[in-house]
Amino acid sequence: MKVIATIAALRTALTAERLKGRSIGLVPTMGYLHIGHMTLVRQSRAVCDVTVVSIFVNPTQFGPNEDLSTYPRDMAGDLAKLKAEGVNYVFTPEVAEIYRAGANTIVENPVLSRILIGKIRPGHFRGVSTVVTKLFNIVQPDHAFFGEKDYQQLTIIRRMVADLDMPIVITGVATVREADGVACSSRNAMLTPAHRKAAAILPRSLDLADAMVAQGQRSVAAIRNAVRTMLETEKQGDVEAVDIRDAQTLDPVAGKFRQPVVILLTVRFGKVRLIDQRVIG
Ligand code: PAF
Repeated sequence: MKVIATIAALRTALTAERLKGRSIGLVPTMGYLHIGHMTLVRQSRAVCDVTVVSIFVNPTQFGPNEDLSTYPRDMAGDLAKLKAEGVNYVFTPEVAEIYRAGANTIVENPVLSRILIGKIRPGHFRGVSTVVTKLFNIVQPDHAFFGEKDYQQLTIIRRMVADLDMPIVITGVATVREADGVACSSRNAMLTPAHRKAAAILPRSLDLADAMVAQGQRSVAAIRNAVRTMLETEKQGDVEAVDIRDAQTLDPVAGKFRQPVVILLTVRFGKVRLIDQRVIG
């Protein structure tokens, strides 16, 4: 496994791989890797000849009062895990390598980046789209792998790749969960033990939505209200959003739904914001 911190050195290495006819898979991450990331890596290894993992805590996707400085980091641990998985290249740039002096071009979907989490975190998806575009241009992967937990992020990236004709196959990988159903996330490490326990209310609320749909419920309002009520029984969490949207476009849905919809939850425990999602219907 080669650990490379500069764009030039990574390009040289990957050009040589491409000349040998090898396909390239990219798993973009912000580090502090958990089993969810490893599932993305395994998918890439199954599909591509060469797997590149990027570890870059991207400052432009954090708002001024967000958790950039406290975002968990463990480069040594991450590299050991990636080596054990048989990853070929790890890209570990410094901020100045990615954002050179004077850089001010951005990539943004003006519609999808301003709804849902984009309303709660203005500028977040602009930072994500911009850095993912840069990583795509640096690595030029054939395939890229993203977790479905970040459902809006995945939708925005799929839209971006289609709209900007990027020749990359985007694969969404199902959320990996801990024993109590809580979605694996690097942010779980920032929860107090009490908040971590309380976080199980998110998957339990999604189970409730699933059960309602299984019993024939199709009313967006009925499911959303029941889920919100259940989330609010957990007094340690602040429910920021419960949304039900078209699963493909994230367009609003009202009344009774007929198409697949996704239910998206955002709940804050102290300063830590957790999200979860499930496609229902
Ligand atoms: O999902 C993440 O970890 C980040 O948003 C990503 C895609 C690596 C971009 O910084």
